Formats: sequence, structure tokens, C-alpha cells
Amino acid sequence: MVRSLVVGGSGFLGSHVVDALLSEGHEVRVLDLRPPVTELSAAWRGVQFLRGSMLDAHALEDATRGCNYVFQYATTTIPKTSIEDPELDNQNLVGTLRLVQACHKAKVEKIVFPSSGGTLYGKPDRLPIPEDAALRPGSPYAATKIAIESHLAAAHRLYGLDYAVLRYGNPYGPRQDPAGKMGVVAVVFGLLRGGKRPTLYGDGTTVKDFFYSTDAASAATAVLRSSEDHVFNVGSGRGTSIRELFATMAKVIGDPFEPLRASPLPGDEPACVLDTRRIRRAFGWQPVVNLETGLRRTWEWIQLAKP
Ligand SMILES: NC(=O)c1ccc[n+]([C@@H]2O[C@H](COP(=O)([O-])OP(=O)(O)OC[C@H]3O[C@@H](n4cnc5c(N)ncnc54)[C@H](O)[C@@H]3O)[C@@H](O)[C@H]2O)c1
Repeated sequence: MVRSLVVGGSGFLGSHVVDALLSEGHEVRVLDLRPPVTELSAAWRGVQFLRGSMLDAHALEDATRGCNYVFQYATTTIPKTSIEDPELDNQNLVGTLRLVQACHKAKVEKIVFPSSGGTLYGKPDRLPIPEDAALRPGSPYAATKIAIESHLAAAHRLYGLDYAVLRYGNPYGPRQDPAGKMGVVAVVFGLLRGGKRPTLYGDGTTVKDFFYSTDAASAATAVLRSSEDHVFNVGSGRGTSIRELFATMAKVIGDPFEPLRASPLPGDEPACVLDTRRIRRAFGWQPVVNLETGLRRTWEWIQLAKP
């Protein structure tokens, strides 16, 4: 039996990785500060949940013992909070370094880490952005992602610990916190559900690479196979402006809402469309849920989710 640990498995993306691993027959363990949402209790009956912190070396040692694969999906920050409190972001680096040591000790075969294609490249020279484009972090969050990527490369050279970095574009979908500060789809749907008007920051021409949560998870399991490359962009490979996104959301909910207006958010990059040919070629991975279908499923979930 293949055993996998998902650190941060109770969170938005980590929980979808757990679903994907279960559907592929893995025995799954989760280490998180909080338990998974109750809607998952039936589907996750066989999942071993360990309450603990990625900062606790003993908890990491226990959690990684006997695991073939480890997915590091815990995070303490988003770009905005990392700007407000850069030291908080440092916990992601320290926790991941402790996890790498635990993986080395436990002879884990591969560690998968979600990096950020949406923030690492800054203002890109061209679109779509390939993996070898210049890195221009505009927040402590992005700078830490780069540091963790480098540490994973170093651990690979030092100990032979195999790794895959997924530079995600803009994932959205069920279980992304509508009350959170990250993820325009969740936040806007959350406001619309409560009868409130969402805000459009800037002029709405900002282009992002939106892709659905289950596609983010299928990329995480696809990269378990071996490959020469370790760093992969993951997204739809298609740019959608925020205006276009709002129009598709309006279509999905059947309400042509008029957003409030505000100036652009600090740390928000002007354009992100990822060149995803590397992961497509290496593993045959491709996103399968288009924007309108993904938004429809997310809206259905948000209407049922607790406010
Ligand atoms: N959501 C996005 O748009 C996006 C985009 C690109 C990359 N990522 C990356 O994907 C990863 C997961 O993001 P997410 O959106 O699912 O986040 P999330 O906040 O939904 O989930 C993070 C999980 O980590 C847990 N956690 C926090 N501190 C912990 C600690 N000290 N020990 C153990 N668990 C802890 C939280 O309880 C939570 O369940 C992060 O590394 C994030 O940077 C996310």
C-alpha cells in the first residue's frame, strides 16, 4: 500500500489533494492544526488525522514515518498578510525545512510543494510565462516560495530526496474560504451569497490564470512519477480578465451585479498566464474543468457551505 502524508490537508488545496490520493488508492495521513470540514467525514473515513504543527519537529517525525510521499500544503500566510507581517511568512520556510529533515530521516520518496506561479514572476516579459522566466517576487510570500524551491533543490542534491514544485496559477473551487482574503472567486461568491456587492480592484483588465481545484489536485498526483524536471507551472494556460471573470460569475448566478470600485491591491501582479507545456509533456496532465463549469460547481458548494 502506498502511504502519503498531506501537511495542511484540512485546507482548501490540501483537502482536494487528499481526495485525489484516496481515489488513486493511497493510504492517507493528514497533519494540520485544525480538523477537516465535517462535510468530508464520510468520504475520509479511512484518513488518519494528526492534529499538530509543521513547526513541531517531533510531530513531523511521527507524521512522515512510513510514508512514500509527502505533500506540503500548509501555509500561514497569503501575499497580503505576508506584506503586513513578513516574519509570519518565515514560518512557512522554517516549517518546510523541518519537514524536509523529517522526510530525509523517514526515507520519503518524493515531496510535492505548491509554489506560486501567480506571484513569483512579477510583471512578466511575455505571456504565457515559462518556468525559466525571470523571478521577480513582489511580496515576502513570493520570496519565501523561491527560498523553499531552492531548499528543495539543495536537499535533492544533498540527500537525493526527490521533489516536485507546482507553480500554481489561480486555483478556485469548493472549500476555498468565502470569508478569507485570498481567492477572488470564493470572496466574490461569498459576498453575492450574502446579498452584498463585491469590489472590483483596479480597472478589471488584470489577467489571471484561473483553474479548478480538482485540476490542481490531479497535477499533484501526476508529478509523483519520475521526471528530469522538478519545477512545473500549473494552470489553465489561458488568461481571463477580472471583468470577464465577473461576467461569467454573473451568468452562473443569473444576476448581472454591479461591483463597487477601488484602487488595485498592493502585491497584486498585473498579468499571469502560465505556459503549462512542461507538465503536459512530462506527465500528460491537463486541466479538464472549464471556467464556467468550475464556477457553477463552486457556486453550488458556496450556497450549501456555512456562512
Ligand atoms: N489558494 C491559492 O490561490 C494558492 C495559489 C498558489 C499556491 N498556493 C499554495 O498552496 C498551499 C495551500 O494553500 P491553500 O489555499 O489550500 O491554504 P489554506 O489556508 O486553505 O490551507 C492551509 C492549511 O494549512 C494549515 N496550517 C496552517 N499553519 C499550520 C501549521 N503550522 N501546521 C500545520 N498546518 C498548518 C491550516 O490549518 C490550513 O488547513 C499554500 O502553500 C499556498 O501558498 C495556494
